[in-house]
Amino acid sequence: MTAERFAAIAGVGSSLPERIVPNAEFERLVETSDEWIRQRTGIAERHFAAEDQATSDLAVEAVRSALDAAGIEPNHVDLLICATLTPDTPIPATAVWTQRKLGISCPAFDVNAACAGFSFGLSAGTAFIESGAAETVVVVGAEILSRVLDMTDRGTCVLFGDGAGAVVLRPSGSPGIIGSMLGTDGRAAELLIIPAGGSARPASPQTLAARDHTIRMPSGRDVFKRAVTEMAGACRDLLDKSGYTPDDVDLLIPHQANARIMAAVAERLGIGSDRAVVDVETVGNTSAASIPIALDRAWRAGRIRPDALVLLTSFGAGLAWGANLLRWNAPGSPS
Ligand code: ACO
Repeated sequence: MTAERFAAIAGVGSSLPERIVPNAEFERLVETSDEWIRQRTGIAERHFAAEDQATSDLAVEAVRSALDAAGIEPNHVDLLICATLTPDTPIPATAVWTQRKLGISCPAFDVNAACAGFSFGLSAGTAFIESGAAETVVVVGAEILSRVLDMTDRGTCVLFGDGAGAVVLRPSGSPGIIGSMLGTDGRAAELLIIPAGGSARPASPQTLAARDHTIRMPSGRDVFKRAVTEMAGACRDLLDKSGYTPDDVDLLIPHQANARIMAAVAERLGIGSDRAVVDVETVGNTSAASIPIALDRAWRAGRIRPDALVLLTSFGAGLAWGANLLRWNAPGSPS
């Protein structure tokens, strides 16, 4: 699309709940070790939300922080998109609870593309701006994955964390969001699934007893391989389509699932570790929140210089994946 009007990131923010859960806590729950988790995933600790926190509480903090960075008042937001697989309630959407807690009124809806949700939300928000349907769009990825973990399954419970990250999109005369690439393969839906709690298998004493309201990943190894293939492929396709090569990329920010997955994606693209953000050690896999959290933390650490070419890529249940290429023309970092 040759849009005269482009979308650009005007601000970014994130929020992590207070409670830090080190790997050692899982040694008490399942047969695992701090060493195994660090070595296979790069994760040392993650944050878990307090019992009285809902996903929208984390989303609100991230949105406020992003609006603050952009210098925009909450009542100027005219579209709010929330990417999440752990909504506050089935209805209304988490975007609605977030909006209510922000005290604003605008169209608000959720996107569920699991861990790839932020790529899908960012693409949708960009289209709203480019078409002129919205002026100020907030895209927030927010998750409380600790609520959907089977704490007896060592293959999944050690991987995930809670948190939220948000970006503010505004119209721009030059491309901020240069392009996006999305993909989904429903044939592999069972590779990552929460089997119960929807219309196919509503909650029942049996589903509760079987812990079927928690994340199931029958083959972590297959997920690993597909994650590397699809993220690297989406990045290549998007760079080609946009007229760039991996050498042009200043910073690659992959979905923060696992340090080894990210290293493999960067290697396939020929992007050195100095140009790839790996921020999983203290955060874990926060699903749809992971990219905006990593983006925010990289920005606040001064890792994104003005005009940088930034490549985001994601992968998750669906299977679903995506990539977004952007030119960083948001305000300079606060550091
Ligand atoms: N502690 C100790 N041992 C474990 C643990 C654990 N927490 N989890 C699994 N193991 C064991 C397995 O049971 C298996 O034991 P066995 O050989 O006796 O059967 C052994 O470790 C090897 O299992 P693999 O699954 O082959 O181990 P692998 O090296 O592939 O690492 C992991 C497992 C970390 C899950 C890896 O496959 C992975 O990261 N996959 C991607 C999964 C992912 O990130 N999912 C998140 C959602 S999707 C996304 O966000 C991209």
